Parts: sequence; C-alpha cells; structure tokens
Amino acid sequence: MSNKPLNGIKIIDFTHVQAGPACTQMLAWFGADVIKVERPGAGDVTRSQLRDIPDVDALYFTMLNSNKRSLTLDTKKPEGKAVLEKLIKECDVLVENFGPGALDRMGFTWERIQELNPKMILASVKGFSDGHHYEDLKVYENVAQCAGGAASTTGWWKGEQSGPMISSAALGDSNTGMHLAIGILTAYIGRQQTGKGQKVAVAMQDAVLNLCRVKMRDQLRLDKLGYLEEYPQYPHETFSDVVPRGGNAGGGGQPGWILKCKGWETDPNAYIYFTVQGHAWAPICDAIGKPEWKTDPLYMTPKARQPHIMDIFGTIETWLQDKTKFEAVDILRKFDIPCAPVQSMKELLNDPSLRASGSIVDVPHKERGSYVTVGSPIKFSDLKPEITGSPLLGEHTDEVLAELGYTKDQIAAMHTANAV
Ligand code: COA
Repeated sequence: MSNKPLNGIKIIDFTHVQAGPACTQMLAWFGADVIKVERPGAGDVTRSQLRDIPDVDALYFTMLNSNKRSLTLDTKKPEGKAVLEKLIKECDVLVENFGPGALDRMGFTWERIQELNPKMILASVKGFSDGHHYEDLKVYENVAQCAGGAASTTGWWKGEQSGPMISSAALGDSNTGMHLAIGILTAYIGRQQTGKGQKVAVAMQDAVLNLCRVKMRDQLRLDKLGYLEEYPQYPHETFSDVVPRGGNAGGGGQPGWILKCKGWETDPNAYIYFTVQGHAWAPICDAIGKPEWKTDPLYMTPKARQPHIMDIFGTIETWLQDKTKFEAVDILRKFDIPCAPVQSMKELLNDPSLRASGSIVDVPHKERGSYVTVGSPIKFSDLKPEITGSPLLGEHTDEVLAELGYTKDQIAAMHTANAV
C-alpha cells in the first residue's frame, strides 16, 4: 500500500449526490479507505443521472466517487443494519448527507453511534444548521445559493435579466463538502488528544455564506454610508438599502470587468477579465496605448476614474478589438496587469498546464474504458494523489464483508437479503 498521509483512516461514506461525495473523494485521494455504502439495485442516484452512455455509470457519479470502494447494503433491513453496526465499530468516520432525520429514522442516532463506537466521528451535511427555523428542509445546490446570500448578490441589477442569479460553481454542494473535510480532519486531530469522537456538521447555507462574506461586508458598509463606491451603480444611480447585484464588478477595492475581445460576435467566450489596480495605473496606460492618461487629472486617481470607469473599460475594449483573448493576456501580463481569458470547459479540458499539474486527469474505469476528471486542486511537495476510477455498484461488497469477518455463506445470505 502506498504511503499517504490519511492511510489507516477508515471512512463509512454514507453520502449521495455531490456535497458528501466531494468531501469523501478528497479524503480518499489523500489515502483514507473510503467505503461507500449504497442501496442495492440503484446505488447513489447520480449513477443513473444524466448518462452519456446507456447502462454505464454517469459522469456525475464517476467524477465524484473516485478512489472509493462500493458496498451495497439495505440499511433498513436487519441484515444491513448489522453490517453497518460492525462498520461503525471498526471505522473512524461516518459521513452522511441524507435529508434531515433520515439517519435517525434508520436507527443510527448520534447517541446510538456513540454507544457503538465512542471514537466515531459523525460528519453531516444538511441544508440548514441544527435548530435553524428551516432545519427540516431538503436542500440542493441552487436552493443553498439562494439561502446563503450568493444568488441575491449575483447577476444584473437592471434590464430584463436583472433577477437573482445562480453561479455554476458548486458553492452549495462541493464547497460544503470541502468545509466538511476540514471539519473531519479537525475532529480527527482532536480525537488524538481526547480519545473521543464528535459530531461535525456543516450546513450548506453556512458554507455559502462563508464564501459571501465580502457581500456581508458590503451590506454593513451600505448601512453606514448609503452607497458602495466600487459598484457599477456608483455614482450615477441610486442605492436601495440592500447590496445590489454588481454584474461583473470586482468584489474588492480594485475595479474590474469582463471585456470583449476579437471574435466575441461568434465565440461566446472571447472575453477577458481586466482588473484596474489602483496603485498600478501607469502600466495600464502604457499597455493600452494611452500614456497621456497617466498625467490627466481625470484619470490619475481611482477616485477620479470611478465616475467614468465604464467609459475607461469601453476604451480598453476598443483596444482589444483586434486581439484574441490569449493575445491580449500575453500583452497585458508583461505589464503585470491581473487578467485572464474567460476559459470554456472545452479549453480547460485541453489545457496542457492543467494536465501537467494533475488538475485534470484521465482515469481508468471498468465499463467506460477511461474518463477525464478533475484531479486534486491541492498540491503537496511529498504527496501526488493518484486518482483511480470510481467503483461499480457493489464492486467491493464481498471484499468488505470478508474483512468484517463474514463467512462465504453469510456473504451469500447477504446477497439474498439485498436482492429481496
Ligand atoms: N438502504 C436503505 N435505505 C437507504 C439507503 C440504503 N443503503 N441509503 C439511503 N436510504 C434511505 C434513507 O434512509 C432515506 O429514507 P427515509 O426518508 O425513508 O428515511 C432515503 O433513502 C434518503 O432520503 P433523502 O436523503 O431525503 O433523499 P432525497 O432524494 O429525498 O433527497 C437531498 C435528496 C439531497 C435533497 C437530501 O438528501 C438532502 O437534503 N440532503 C442534505 C443536504 C444535501 O446534502 N444536499 C445536497 C446534495 S448534493
């Protein structure tokens, strides 16, 4: 067995869809033994959602469940419950993201889990935190983005498309899973000091809010000042008493916007993000061929520029007209201007740097042949996560049951129980 930092940590992965699986997948990459417990027959719903090949596990599943083992168990039946009890006694962590109360209804309350194994770390994702007035709600990604403040602050503030907007980044799902992974490792280190497990919970609403703290900052500033100087509404439009949607404005103190490049009429991603760093105005003027702006009082300071910042972006767009997004970035990088091309998924899939760093990897799969997936975004000097394929449904049932001490006959009986 290769020597990875999380080798030896045994995780019952009682998760489904995205939030929980993203968490346990990452822990598996770093060496944990992750046993995914799935309902016989169907398994994680993502196995069959949005399939690109008939009867083969969908990419939704394969991209969130690599490096795991799959054990099928009907945990509502006595036989399945007995196996889960054994697993709880032998493992370190149980991760789950069922709807509120589902684990309790199965008979695995926190009290019962502690009885079975006082060292167990129970890690849960729910839509809302315990005791919250919405604690009974089931939650998916977009619901969390609305509940956690992201949707109200994303999108356009006027025009036909001006309603709240969902981000395509999984702020509610994978982001919550990443928070939970930090919680699990913290509880694990805590257990080394106390000898005791604990319950770790992350609410999707909280995880989204944690990423929206600059918008909360803006609400507090707006309450005090009545305006937000870095938003496109300033100074020509009026502010209400809530943080407005800011289009593509920069979230911090540096104005920025998405600008059209050569080919935007036909290529939906022929754009760059351009940032106007307040303290680095001179290089921008040199880069875009406007050296006279360096000494023009209308342009010299951020305060002077803000009232006509959109016109400045318009002038930069004119400069970009005959440059592709890649050509533009190649020029601007020489002037130290924070910028990047708007990358399509197709471009990212073929990006040689992402391949070289292991951020995009090809992984073998028993039925697909191989598939592309997103590798570890965390890089270590002494660990190179090796991404292996996702398991077929129940692929490791016999293996795991044998490890738990089940005989061949008992394993056969379990298959019969699973099948009924
Ligand atoms: N054997 C037998 N039953 C099983 C089982 C197994 N191996 N695995 C799960 N189940 C049962 C559960 O006991 C539960 O049954 P119950 O409701 O009768 O008690 C049921 O399957 C799962 O219910 P639930 O999790 O509520 O599924 P859902 O499809 O209705 O809802 C979510 C899906 C994601 C909305 C819901 O799980 C949820 O809100 N999760 C928490 C937040 C979250 O993680 N959301 C993001 C997902 S990316």
